[in-house]
Amino acid sequence: MSNQKFIYLDHAASTPVASEVLEAMLPYFSETYGNPSGMHKQARASSRAISNARQEIAQILNCSPKEIVFTSGGSESDNMAIRGVAWAQKLAGKGKHIITSPIEHSAVSKTIDQLCEYYGFEQTQVSVDQYGLVDPADVEAAIRPDTILISIMAANNEVGTLQPIAEIGELAQAHGIPFHSDTVQVVGAIELNMQDLKMDLLAMSAHKFYGPKGVGLLYIRQGTPFMPHSTGGSHEAGRRPGTENVPYIVGLATALKLAYQDMAASVARQTRLRDKLITGVLETIPDAALTGHPTLRLPNSASFVFKDCDATAILMHLDMNGVGGASGSACATGMPEPSDVLLVMGIDYQLALGALRLTLGRSTTDEDIDYVLEKLPGIVQTVRQLHQMQQVPA
Ligand SMILES: Cc1ncc(COP(=O)(O)O)c(C=O)c1O
Repeated sequence: MSNQKFIYLDHAASTPVASEVLEAMLPYFSETYGNPSGMHKQARASSRAISNARQEIAQILNCSPKEIVFTSGGSESDNMAIRGVAWAQKLAGKGKHIITSPIEHSAVSKTIDQLCEYYGFEQTQVSVDQYGLVDPADVEAAIRPDTILISIMAANNEVGTLQPIAEIGELAQAHGIPFHSDTVQVVGAIELNMQDLKMDLLAMSAHKFYGPKGVGLLYIRQGTPFMPHSTGGSHEAGRRPGTENVPYIVGLATALKLAYQDMAASVARQTRLRDKLITGVLETIPDAALTGHPTLRLPNSASFVFKDCDATAILMHLDMNGVGGASGSACATGMPEPSDVLLVMGIDYQLALGALRLTLGRSTTDEDIDYVLEKLPGIVQTVRQLHQMQQVPA
């Protein structure tokens, strides 16, 4: 990379590994490297590191260490949670109906789609409002005698809207239905206390909170019906086979501790900067709108749509100006496709093609936001001019 300062505003996609995390991980690559299942000193040291990490995480989440399963990240945790409950429930003859939302991450939505398409399950997707918010009353209304799982994310990764997971947990428990929540985006933003939240399964991914990529966890409340989706050794109490990734598990626990250490201050700081960014964008750029809920949103997430704009072009211009952002659209086929999340929120197809997500982090400063606010209006204007030229028939 060049020496130009790069303003990274894509923390919802991934975060840098904190120096404390890296430091904690390093000894477990080549000093303490034994297989935790072994019977010697090296093995015991590795095993102890995992056990300490599990203990520390359990303390933070206010749960039993037995309820923590280490995984390779958010996607695996979501897959494991949904398949694990669905299979166990089906085997027990409990039913085949799953309640979810239309704005879930693909790790959830595609897992449920596959269960429905090939394994005889059925799903109800409750609607979301214009802010991407699920109404717990809709979840309750969707419950059938054969409902075996409710899966609703804690916060959406594209628009940052926070869902009423406490209320959904209460009603799921009242109906005796396991509740899974993809909490990947909320770690460090809200407290996840498993004695307060009536959540049975919760997915986390370390790289979203300054830990390494490729490690995460699944919390499984004791007594939740669960069948492992991989088979092999008896690691993780038979729920997830395979030699444990010791350094990454240590990194995950360290990152979680850091996220909880300064949560209130970090949330307050990022909320202020986020609101400065949102207000600045809406005041200076015509035909711009905020996507997601104005207040019930992740403290670091600002997401917009710009009329008559191509999101990819905005991102390229931002990148050339030293700013990294993201859009909700996918461009796999060469033809930009708007995000399904924005469409189900009722945002117009053309408008949704101009989606921009800027997600702040621990290192984001007032100067960074000032710089973006200085550059973005001109970028949007340029992209709009290009867009208009493309609309003129040849
Ligand atoms: C809401 C949500 N769930 C799941 C995932 C997947 O996590 P991972 O990258 O660890 O597989 C992501 C990552 O973007 C996410 O934002």
